[in-house]
Amino acid sequence: MNVLFATSEMFPLIKTGGLADVSGALPLALSQVGVDVRVVLPRYANIKTDLIESEIQIGQKEILGQPVKINLANLNTGHLVYLVDHPVFSARQGNPYIGPDGNNWHDNPDRFGLFCRAVVALSTGLFGDAWKPDIIHSNDWQTGLIPALLSESSSPKNIFTIHNLAYQGVFDRPTFERLGLPWSLWRPDALEYWGNMSFMKAGIVFSKFVTTVSNTYAQEIQSPEFGYGLDGLLHHKQDRLKGILNGIGEDWNPQTDPLLEKPFSTSDMTGKAIIKESIQHEFGLTIDGNIPLITHVGRLVEQKGIDLLIQAIETLGSAQVQFVILGAGEHRFEHALRSLAEKNPDRIAVVIGYDEKLAHRLEAAGDAFIMPSRFEPCGLNQMYSLRYGALPIVHRVGGLADTVTHITPESIKDGSASGIVIDHLDVSAIHWAIGYFMEIYKDRDLYRKIQQQGMQKDFGWITSAKEYKKIYSAALKEQTHDES
Ligand code: ADP
Ligand code: GLC
Repeated sequence: MNVLFATSEMFPLIKTGGLADVSGALPLALSQVGVDVRVVLPRYANIKTDLIESEIQIGQKEILGQPVKINLANLNTGHLVYLVDHPVFSARQGNPYIGPDGNNWHDNPDRFGLFCRAVVALSTGLFGDAWKPDIIHSNDWQTGLIPALLSESSSPKNIFTIHNLAYQGVFDRPTFERLGLPWSLWRPDALEYWGNMSFMKAGIVFSKFVTTVSNTYAQEIQSPEFGYGLDGLLHHKQDRLKGILNGIGEDWNPQTDPLLEKPFSTSDMTGKAIIKESIQHEFGLTIDGNIPLITHVGRLVEQKGIDLLIQAIETLGSAQVQFVILGAGEHRFEHALRSLAEKNPDRIAVVIGYDEKLAHRLEAAGDAFIMPSRFEPCGLNQMYSLRYGALPIVHRVGGLADTVTHITPESIKDGSASGIVIDHLDVSAIHWAIGYFMEIYKDRDLYRKIQQQGMQKDFGWITSAKEYKKIYSAALKEQTHDES
């Protein structure tokens, strides 16, 4: 079974968030369960070319009058990746989606429209490549036009994964016209979305199966609160909508993580204490292993509840607890965080920016990791936290609800307790959760027990890869049926 995995970011080549982690780890797990999988990605200016062991040009074609080149690269991670090369990607430094002014590139629909057309041309043999996919697995809005453009052909079959419904790729009608899409797609049961076009809707409507990254999120997006206007469509498609929980890759393993000062494991936690001390030292916090340290890493956007977290820390009073926060995003949150740290230098540290190594060290250093997300399709950091022995403090939504078990007398007794789960998110609930964590932290035996339980949970990718393989097989069976 040949699968082409279409994505707009992939770790370690280029990453802005969890989609990259998934696009890096899932294809490797799929290979392990017997799927022949290749990834296709735009060739951004900033991809880490030193990871490429060899690269050959597959072909060059005119797409909508533009010359597009596709290369096949062999990475030292074991991935085979098609790189779609055009100056809208390769001549722009920085973030894949955002320009130097902090706004989305004005021509994002054209850029990702071109990418989608290139993937379709590749998969239908127009670039002359001998390898043919049976399935195209597309991810998020940037790849949403692929299933729509393939809607007339019986092969390959389309699977579409929603990683975050909040980003839909909605553009106006002149954009639709500029993209040269057939008018048959301008319909409410196709791409049209309240007088605009939606890339995300295209992916959902025209795919055989739609998946999302946790069971709870698969339910949530069928309701108006989380559905962003697509809840009706998703509910209608519920028999073809499935939640498959993300896993976590081997690069997030505290026993082997090269980014840590010292590795650690359930049987020897000294490394964790050393990293906590090194973080306290580096950021000028009071150096004391007994003061609980809460960390946070994430995009500074409303989704992540960062505004509530800032307010909660501001009004926490003199509690003996430290915070280290790493993130980049909206300037108003960056600014508020900086001033919070300036006012409390011995208790609060903030790093604005993107720092892969520090992200690993903060998971390792933290006694707790806080994620008060308003919604969270899956969330990876809470799983990294569990594996790194930082008690997750989360809101009961999406993948957070599916991966963290609230600490109660019952869950302690049956061994499932793993973190603190907030039911109704607001500032006082965050105060309550921090207070509860500090209480647990004081009871060293209990804290250690819960920490060790969390570290032993299995979040490997193989289970999820097998679920995806089942969906691919189901889509292919329908193909045989359609054609008979
Ligand atoms: P999302 O994809 O919504 O941002 P996830 O929890 O799925 O959320 O994944 C976020 C990923 O991005 C994690 O691997 C996290 O460590 C990483 N990340 C987010 N912000 C930063 C940052 N400022 N520096 C380093 N890594 C970051
Ligand atoms: C999105 C979601 C996040 C999820 C990630 C990978 O960015 O916000 O919850 O973990 O995709 O699927």
